[in-house]
Amino acid sequence: MSSSSESHVYIDTNRVISAISPLLFSGFAEHMGRCVYEGIYDPASPHADENGLRKDVLAVLREMNYRSIRYPGGNFLSGYRWEDGVGPRDKRPVRRDLAWRSIETNQFGTDEFMAFCKQIGTAPMMGVNMGTGTIQDAANLVEYCNAPTGTKYADMRAANGHRDPYGVKYWCVGNEMDGPWQIGHLDAVEYGQKAREAAKMMRMQDSSIELVLCGSSHSAMPTYPEWDRVALEFCYDHVDYHSMHYYATNFEDDTPSYLALSAEFESFVDTLTGVLRYVKAIRRSKRDVYLSWDEWNVWYKDRSGDGGWTEAPHLSEEVYNLEDALVVAQWMNVFLRRSDVLKVACLAQIVNVISPLTTTRDSLLKHTTYYPIALFNRLASGDALDVAVKAPIYETKKFGAMPLLDVSSSYDAAAGSNVVYIVNRSLTEDAPLTIHWQNRKPTSVKAVYQLAGTDPKAANSFENPNAVVTKTIAAPAVRDGQSQLVLPPLSFTVLECTL
Ligand code: AHR
Repeated sequence: MSSSSESHVYIDTNRVISAISPLLFSGFAEHMGRCVYEGIYDPASPHADENGLRKDVLAVLREMNYRSIRYPGGNFLSGYRWEDGVGPRDKRPVRRDLAWRSIETNQFGTDEFMAFCKQIGTAPMMGVNMGTGTIQDAANLVEYCNAPTGTKYADMRAANGHRDPYGVKYWCVGNEMDGPWQIGHLDAVEYGQKAREAAKMMRMQDSSIELVLCGSSHSAMPTYPEWDRVALEFCYDHVDYHSMHYYATNFEDDTPSYLALSAEFESFVDTLTGVLRYVKAIRRSKRDVYLSWDEWNVWYKDRSGDGGWTEAPHLSEEVYNLEDALVVAQWMNVFLRRSDVLKVACLAQIVNVISPLTTTRDSLLKHTTYYPIALFNRLASGDALDVAVKAPIYETKKFGAMPLLDVSSSYDAAAGSNVVYIVNRSLTEDAPLTIHWQNRKPTSVKAVYQLAGTDPKAANSFENPNAVVTKTIAAPAVRDGQSQLVLPPLSFTVLECTL
């Protein structure tokens, strides 16, 4: 008999939700603040390589194993002329970036981004401007990136030193076009019509590309989810993914509710899943469109967005703490639990701006959120499993009764590995836990990684970079297909098991 304060997780490798799309472990880099300049590209840094790319940043991004990087925005995208960012650097115009009131030197553009992606072994996900840009501009960029030489834009690429097409597979048709703040904002009908025509032209350039439609930029938008329905009704047969954006906040300093945010994340996915099914039915379509959560992160402590007309201003350099890392961990649990419909997720952003990494000219700091992201990106492969969880309940102001544990699991049959990811949301209580493997029993728990602490506000800093880091703890024994362990309060624990 188990007491009610004990938790149980039941794992059966036959209860598969879906194959996990590797694109769930993607990132986002925008020409905003110091993400590109001083983050990725910083010729003045002692860490710069011969092309100005930060070797220290590249090394950590490689370690983080992002499968794709979305670029170049963001709000920046909706005023961006991509032709400014290619060709000889001394001929590229300096512009006012109206989205972030910053000075854009265009020293980093499409070709530099492709070189960067190649260096870190990730797939580029390009955005086309649906604000000030035309559908022709969008198609021209596809030609520049993907067409063989012999025509204007492909020859332009070759003249810029890149004879072979880049073969960019993933393309976003605009950014947050539902937002009144967006340059060239459109209503859902206008956007739906423009996006459909852009998608058609882009696919005429290259029929193999996969397209992401702009969905709601937050579930709190007044036009959500109507925007999504309307845009999808125009575009369902022309796109592969529908985007969702969400930035988590704890303005109220209500940690119990904040740590239960997975309820909100799941309900956002649920609603959009319903919209996708509805539109599929009314379009009498045989194909599926999936969700792309292509901007997600915690963002509320530093919302600065005014660059004061300077180059590479310090904007939105959020410092993450332990509770933020636990929100990020459960967000990634949701990615696995909803992997049947969620196929892409891009962390916004990869460096300096609302990022797990902050640079100075000569050093680099890993914030708390680096740790859960790095663990998921490295370990989650194969299939997501539908785990059954019995856990004590706690009360939250925002979501009512919530389980103390938030759990997901991946099973990679080929690698013979099962990984279990568990957040203990309690601020004060240990969670004694038994894991029951119901069919295939692990031969051993190979390793246990844990991020934990007593202060939800604890954070890393350049002075104290290891205040909150993942530790490897003793692995429990497996007896009769069961393991027991005690999860400390405010913790994220990952068990890597060999089956
Ligand atoms: O990632 C920062 C900004 O947040 C992006 O530019 C925009 O798409 C979103 O509102």
